[in-house]
Amino acid sequence: MNENLKTSDLALELGRGLENSAEFTALMNKYKCAIMEVETKLNVLNAEFSLNYDRNPFESIETRLKSPESILEKMQRKGFELTLTSIEENLFDVAGIRVVCAFQEDIYKLAELLTKQDDIRLLRTKDYIKHPKDNGYRSLHLILEVPIFLADGKKYMKVEVQFRTIAMDFWASVDHKLRYKKVIENEEQIITKLKRCANVISRLDQEMQDIRNMIEKSEAESSV
Ligand code: GTP
Ligand code: MG
Repeated sequence: MNENLKTSDLALELGRGLENSAEFTALMNKYKCAIMEVETKLNVLNAEFSLNYDRNPFESIETRLKSPESILEKMQRKGFELTLTSIEENLFDVAGIRVVCAFQEDIYKLAELLTKQDDIRLLRTKDYIKHPKDNGYRSLHLILEVPIFLADGKKYMKVEVQFRTIAMDFWASVDHKLRYKKVIENEEQIITKLKRCANVISRLDQEMQDIRNMIEKSEAESSV
């Protein structure tokens, strides 16, 4: 099935709130623009850092637009009205960006530099690094609003940005893969082992950060 067909299926499901699927497509395009805006801001910060400090605060950025099926599934699961306005008001992760950093301190630095930009509105912060989830999941999640400029004016769009270290990303991708498997045996043991891995990874991130701090300190001392 191609993307347009899926989109029009959703439009049908959305029912009276939506006259035609062109409006849904237009909304998705706005989210795409919002993703581009935030991605550019992050790339600008990365470029500036490499120029001034000779290092990149992040290793990679991935972006994704939530699929019409996932949007519909989430709206129904949460019992939200199926209209475009309701999608915009209730879903915070239609536009998603994942930023993977080598070092934990760079996560906070980047998040700070991004959110202090005067066109960005910070709606919500979930710090699963300082407060990991029970299963061991760690990442910093921000819900932002970013303005996009259209022919008929300015519009703020919501974007979810997830910041992780490479090690946290490794853990989360393994956890994500296992999440869809049907566990019949040893479930408790698997949960315990995953959590233990998350703790090992957290210590690893701390050690890596310490190493970088030591190197930076020694560089600074040798240059005076
Ligand atoms: P969603 O309805 O799933 O978006 O959750 P939420 O609105 O409560 O937001 P939360 O910030 O907790 O999680 C949002 C996203 O973070 C998820 O869609 C995943 O991408 C990621 N995430 C959260 N918890 C976990 C986890 O335990 N494991 C993995 N692998 N990813 C997670
Ligand atoms: Mg989500």
